[in-house]
Amino acid sequence: MNKKTIIANWKMNKSLAKSINFAKNLIKNYYETDNNIVICPSSICIHDVLKIFSDTNISVGAQNCFWADRGAYTGEISAEMLHEIGVEYVILGHSERRTYLSETNEIINKKILNSLENNLKVILCIGEKTRQNNNINSIFTDIEECLKSVPKNSFNDIIVAYEPVWAIGSGVSLDPENANIICENIQEFVENKYDFCNIKTIYGGSLNPENSKNFLNQPKIDGILVGNASLDLNKFIKIISK
Ligand code: PGA
Repeated sequence: MNKKTIIANWKMNKSLAKSINFAKNLIKNYYETDNNIVICPSSICIHDVLKIFSDTNISVGAQNCFWADRGAYTGEISAEMLHEIGVEYVILGHSERRTYLSETNEIINKKILNSLENNLKVILCIGEKTRQNNNINSIFTDIEECLKSVPKNSFNDIIVAYEPVWAIGSGVSLDPENANIICENIQEFVENKYDFCNIKTIYGGSLNPENSKNFLNQPKIDGILVGNASLDLNKFIKIISK
């Protein structure tokens, strides 16, 4: 099996004490896997979590960043700042930010361009809102708008996270075979449109220790993005273990 990327999105959960505790216990209880593990804590916990993982192959990601390097943008954090402290990944375009903070594809595009310039790897979230409205063309439009002006040599640093919005936090995931087909369609779209083969595509939405292996075993699914189940150490260890 190819190396897969397993990303934990803690969202606005876990205080600093809880984040530190989880990170230390993850190292204690975790045996090496061949997969890439990326933990995305809340921004105020990133620095401490990074220090704990410094001698391991576990990476740290941010859940968001701004589109400019610095300036009068009260409350924001830049990709430059994240990269300086050792953050490797940033999640952009998550549906919760689209919903609660009105992020548009245009805003997400600016954030992606700035993150790539600052050497962060981008986890771009896209996915249909409802189960009925599952027209793949709307996913392609989102990808096109979010990746506008991205240079071809940056596509290696982009992971497209296919997350059907209706599956996030609902306890109902898409079935792995269909998720595999959508990931394949996304790869083909990117190949035709940008002449870039095998862009990394991962699945997210109501993953748990019971269903995650079925997704990781799919040939076109390069990894998974785990929300709720990544908050529980035992569940997360089961998910990342072979
Ligand atoms: P969930 O969240 O695993 O709790 O459904 C996934 C996500 O929002 O990335």
